[in-house]
Amino acid sequence: MYAQQVETGLSTVRTTADMADDERAFQARIDAGVRIEAKDWMPDAYRKTLIRQISQHAHSEIVGQLPEGNWVTRAPTLKRKSILLAKIQDEAGHGLYLYSAAETLGVSRDELLAALHSGKAKYSSIFNYPTLSWADMGAIGWLVDGSAIINQIPLCRCSYGPYARAMVRVCKEESFHARQGYDIMLALARGTAEQKAMAQDALNRWWWPSLMMFGPSDAESVNSAQSAQWRIKLFSNDELRQRMVDQTVPQAEFLGLTVPDPDLRFNAETGHYEFGAIDWAEFHNVLKGNGPCNRERLRTRVQAWEEGAWFREALVAHADKHAAVKEVA
Ligand code: 3HC
Repeated sequence: MYAQQVETGLSTVRTTADMADDERAFQARIDAGVRIEAKDWMPDAYRKTLIRQISQHAHSEIVGQLPEGNWVTRAPTLKRKSILLAKIQDEAGHGLYLYSAAETLGVSRDELLAALHSGKAKYSSIFNYPTLSWADMGAIGWLVDGSAIINQIPLCRCSYGPYARAMVRVCKEESFHARQGYDIMLALARGTAEQKAMAQDALNRWWWPSLMMFGPSDAESVNSAQSAQWRIKLFSNDELRQRMVDQTVPQAEFLGLTVPDPDLRFNAETGHYEFGAIDWAEFHNVLKGNGPCNRERLRTRVQAWEEGAWFREALVAHADKHAAVKEVA
């Protein structure tokens, strides 16, 4: 599969001829579609890439709870409030599955969280935008969770067993997240003129940041080629971004809303929507920590970690006491 040098954008991968025997045997297992498990030999670089991606995915789930938490007390009905609470609770669970998958690679949760709290580890750029109206709860479920599903379904078939299996459960719950978001947008779009305008405003603000969730363009991606060779990434950033646009534009039309892209047009020949240029300066600016909510999000996470220290200490003390009692018995 990799006889020729595989080049995608800024990253290139080595051919099997350049690999040591154990790495060549590992790559042959990957190419044969064999699932890699925690106890299997793996190149350090494969392990490092997975720790990076899985932990950042987990951080995204945990930080992703914050924008929606902002609207729990202001949900318009008890039904919407309980649905939103269930979704936010799911995201916490997704974070836990993913931290557990990352721990199988020999890294501790405390190390991973320290990397998040110090700003060393990333989380998805999308969660650095403010949620200004109830319609944002709809736009996030529809666009953000919708994008997450498109990105996560291939991960159910990725080469690393614990990650792939965590994704199966996550994707089942994400479909509910996307449905409840679209249901909010439908209710607003069919509501009063003010409600429809609120839905349009939310689409205007969340559309482009949702496209950025899929990462930089393939030409700019530094990790894609290697992640593709290791079958961590089964589709490129641009392929999945295109899928999101093709799936979502007809949904916006059904709502009677306008996608905020004057260059958007359907190409009957290719069967895809062509869309305008993404503002990569904004993307990189948010990744540098200069998004609208980066500081607030990290401050909130660090504060929660510090305020929860007593609870973690109590759990450990209880576990130690329990273990000591068992010892004596
Ligand atoms: N936000 C923050 N950082 C991003 C990013 C984004 N939207 N897109 C790319 N990056 C970072 C990458 O992490 C990488 O930096 P690093 O090397 O320091 O980690 C750099 O930009 C270059 O990007 P690449 O495309 O080369 O990097 P990857 O191959 O890792 O691809 C990715 C990026 C597509 C996000 C990939 O990491 C991935 O598929 N991750 C798993 C899915 C995920 O994390 N989704 C985030 C949202 S989770 C979510 O939405 C939860 C839902 O319940 C709401």
